[in-house]
Amino acid sequence: MARILITSAIPYINGIKHLGNLVGSQLPADLYARYMRQRGHEVMFLCATDEHGTPAELAAAKAGKPVAEFCAEMHEVQAGLARGFRLSFDHFGRSSSPQNHQLTQYFAGRLADAGLIEEVSERQVYSNADGRFLPDRYIEGTCPNCGYDKARGDQCENCTKQLDPTDLIDPRSAISGSTDLEVCETKHLYLRQSALRDQLDAWIDTKSDWPVLTTSIAKKWLHDGDGLQDRGITRDLNWGVPVRKGTEDWPGMEGKVFYVWFDAPIEYIAAAVEWADANGKADADWQRWWRTDKGADDVRYVQFMGKDNVPFHTLSFPATIMGADDNWKLVDYIKSFNYLNYDGGQFSTSQGRGIFQDQALEILPVDYWRWWLLSHAPESSDSEFTWENFQSSVNKDLADVLGNFVSRITKFCRSKFGEVVPDAPADLARAERDALWSRIGPLLKEYETQMEAMEVRKSANTLRAIWVVGNEYLQEAAPWSVFKTDADRAAAIVATALNLAGLYAILSAPFIPETSETLGRALNVTDFDWPSGVDDLARLPAGHGFVVPDVLFAKISDEDREAWQERFSGTRA
Ligand code: 2FM
Ligand code: ZN
Repeated sequence: MARILITSAIPYINGIKHLGNLVGSQLPADLYARYMRQRGHEVMFLCATDEHGTPAELAAAKAGKPVAEFCAEMHEVQAGLARGFRLSFDHFGRSSSPQNHQLTQYFAGRLADAGLIEEVSERQVYSNADGRFLPDRYIEGTCPNCGYDKARGDQCENCTKQLDPTDLIDPRSAISGSTDLEVCETKHLYLRQSALRDQLDAWIDTKSDWPVLTTSIAKKWLHDGDGLQDRGITRDLNWGVPVRKGTEDWPGMEGKVFYVWFDAPIEYIAAAVEWADANGKADADWQRWWRTDKGADDVRYVQFMGKDNVPFHTLSFPATIMGADDNWKLVDYIKSFNYLNYDGGQFSTSQGRGIFQDQALEILPVDYWRWWLLSHAPESSDSEFTWENFQSSVNKDLADVLGNFVSRITKFCRSKFGEVVPDAPADLARAERDALWSRIGPLLKEYETQMEAMEVRKSANTLRAIWVVGNEYLQEAAPWSVFKTDADRAAAIVATALNLAGLYAILSAPFIPETSETLGRALNVTDFDWPSGVDDLARLPAGHGFVVPDVLFAKISDEDREAWQERFSGTRA
């Protein structure tokens, strides 16, 4: 049994997330966490809301609420949606927690003691029209690297380059569009990432098993141009973690807070502390996940995120961990995702374009979404949500393949043998099981290998292939014909197929947990242990009672599809 620490990129607090956000980190992380738990490993799965920074301040102002109150409310909303999507976090924390304040200040202190923080007098952008300093992402302009004309002051969405606002060509306020911007002098702290460049580079070189998407982005920022740049880690805002050196004041930094991207990844650790505090655990209980001197050297730490988050997780956060030089656990594997597009364009939170988590759950049960999103995860390239594709995938995979098999076998059994697994002569039953397992066994191995490797789409394909075997088996074995001449053999077929349905409840649970529960309940599956051999096709013995489940998946009609297509074609306020 291994110990696996899993974190998903923590979603911004400023609004309800769209399905593209979900499939880029939380959902695949949940898939992996569920699978690993089912395989008997000890899992700690952490996520949180990312509550600091200007987007939070502005969203609160727009909602007419004090920012702390806004964040507390939005955290509850996001936590409810996470439950709705069946995200099985061990803890869903808040980056504004006291635990994160303390850890963030501690890391800053360690980095300062190690000589890795520099105080820099810097020029900052003030917008006369808006009457405020403009934080990085509220300055827009042309990217000096690729020429994209809507680059933000913190990062170019187009080429992923991390930017400083003063790098932008033709800058303007993203709030008012005003170009009446002034630059003032002020002092800020910089993390000397450049001093850690060789260490980071050598570390990335040990990660030959990482996806190319991950390492290529890291290598690009380590080597392109002048190499890894130092990073400003403080801001002039009210809301955030106040700048302190450990527990001491930091002269000259009064009234400033840490940059949201400095404290957000530290929340991965703080979430574990929050988990311990919320559950009456001792410090040792979270430290065994996070401190290599307290047992975490045995932990495998896996992070999930969208590609825009990769520079922060391959470089900035590891620089914080390495620079603090105090036995903190570094990530072992980073699984990153491309973007999911929506019907010929991009999902966009700021423009309200696409389907948002609350809307999705309003119109269809969670497993329809989980299945489509995971089976179309943007792994090797960007992928696209279209209503046609969604309808066809749900109707075919879920309704025609899985749902139909379960319905056929349970109803046939009920009509001929009642709602119990039929009794069949041992030799006949054995022969059916052997024949079926010779097809299921190899697919199961493939599924396990792909799930282990976090190959999300491939795993979904293989699971679908495992479902297909059920229908093929029924079609070929044709118990309805056999029954007329050989009721014993028909009983053996039915018992075997019912057992296969029971295994589907177990094998499908990481992808479609709600349906798996429904199916498991209908078939009275009490033992969700992962199957490993032909005998697992005899777990439900003769005489085991079940009920025919309600339709597992209703098909999406053309009318529904068209209505939703229409409803979600614009943008939401
Ligand atoms: O891109 C985002 O949604 C960020 N809120 C992710 C932060 S991940 C981490 F570093 F905490
Ligand atoms: Zn660019």
